[in-house]
Amino acid sequence: MTEAKKLYVKTYGCQMNVYDSERMAEALGAQGYAQVDTAEAADMILLNTCHIREKAVEKVYSDLGRLRPLHDAKPDLKIAVAGCVAQAEGAEILRRQPMVDLVVGPQTYHRLPMMMDAVGRGERVLDTEFPQEDKFAHLPKDRRATRGPTAFLTAQEGCDKFCSFCVVPYTRGAEVSRPAERLLREARDLIERGVREITLLGQNVNAYHGAGSDGSEWGFARLIREMAKIDGLDRIRYTTSHPNDMEDDLIAAHGDCDKLMPYLHLPVQSGSDSILKAMNRKHTADSYIRLIERIRTVRPDLLLSGDFIVGFPGETEADFQATLDLVATVGYGAAYSFKYSPRPGTPAAERAMVDPAEADDRLQRLQALVTAQQHATQDAMIGRVVRVLFEKPGRMPGQITGKSEYLHAVHADGPLGLVGQIAPVEIIASQNNSLTGRLIG
Ligand code: SAH
Ligand code: SF4
Ligand code: F3S
Repeated sequence: MTEAKKLYVKTYGCQMNVYDSERMAEALGAQGYAQVDTAEAADMILLNTCHIREKAVEKVYSDLGRLRPLHDAKPDLKIAVAGCVAQAEGAEILRRQPMVDLVVGPQTYHRLPMMMDAVGRGERVLDTEFPQEDKFAHLPKDRRATRGPTAFLTAQEGCDKFCSFCVVPYTRGAEVSRPAERLLREARDLIERGVREITLLGQNVNAYHGAGSDGSEWGFARLIREMAKIDGLDRIRYTTSHPNDMEDDLIAAHGDCDKLMPYLHLPVQSGSDSILKAMNRKHTADSYIRLIERIRTVRPDLLLSGDFIVGFPGETEADFQATLDLVATVGYGAAYSFKYSPRPGTPAAERAMVDPAEADDRLQRLQALVTAQQHATQDAMIGRVVRVLFEKPGRMPGQITGKSEYLHAVHADGPLGLVGQIAPVEIIASQNNSLTGRLIG
């Protein structure tokens, strides 16, 4: 028997890239590649990249630079670049990095086996098309469960919203929803492999409108309700969602679908209506706040997280204050805030930038507020009993760690046999980014 070739995958960016990396590893697995944990041990290195902010892109290029000595020492080493940087500047990567053998976009990686054959013949390959065929239909059918009892499942991909700052509609293409039957099958497959929690993914996953098993078109709430019927699947989550796609039936599902977890990532980006308009978000601060109120009416304990951009072109101190006000009004359990980064080809990149020192200062002020909210939310969990899906051994001996309904990381002393199980835990302490609890019962 020939020894398996070794594949090292590094994933940057969002959860969808994590999912895509798993699928690419499965596709290459069918070619005889087994995954390893270090670049040094690999015969092939795959970087699955992110283009969302300038810094994310710089990181890819500096990591590529760092692979050079490895490539010099092992000229047979194959290097592939996938993901959103590959999509946006594939030809440029091949030009700047002669050691790169293969560039593959997010919509063509089902062709990887074919591309690898060409690479084997000594060719350099670039494939960043948006093909007609559905890549998922051409990937290995059997899923592996690589992250223990939790898994991602891409339900919808691409974006038609064109926020003026964002590259995603260009790197991922138009919105496409996968047929529900395939998603249910993939979910059942994952459950058979020990998965108990599935996070449905999409750039705007709540815009899902796919072919249903009964021939009609299903919206996202229907998909969730059908998923919830699968025995052995205990928890459903989804990310990322857009405020304008939070339809009534989805809000209702938050109130009456027990398997849908009380955590929602619902980015708003800014609290200023004039900035929201300039961002082409098509909602106002007030409509967002009213939406949150409606969801909390049906699910009062919902933990909310969001994304914010500070220093968007034209943002004044008053606009920024409006963002702070919105954060204070809504109250987030977690939030991700970013300094605006001009992205080539997006409308906002043409506009005058806010003074960088001012933008830095705003970022710090916003982060201080959301961190305080996060800690207050965590502290309020002390004394409460949550149900934890244990995922793996903890860092301390004797500890196991997992996630509560609210997606808080929770550590507790307990037997390894509980990994993959859900158990009640009383929260006794709160750290920076996690909670400590005591198993009860
Ligand atoms: N589809 C998701 C967001 C995907 S990108 C949504 O609409 O909410 C994830 C986050 O990155 C965004 O929510 C935004 O806050 C941030 N982001 C996107 N483009 C950016 C840019 N050019 N500069 C800074 N942050 C950006
Ligand atoms: Fe980007 Fe806006 Fe689409 Fe989200 S909704 S992916 S921020 S364009
Ligand atoms: Fe990045 Fe592409 Fe995801 S740009 S955030 S990897 S969709």
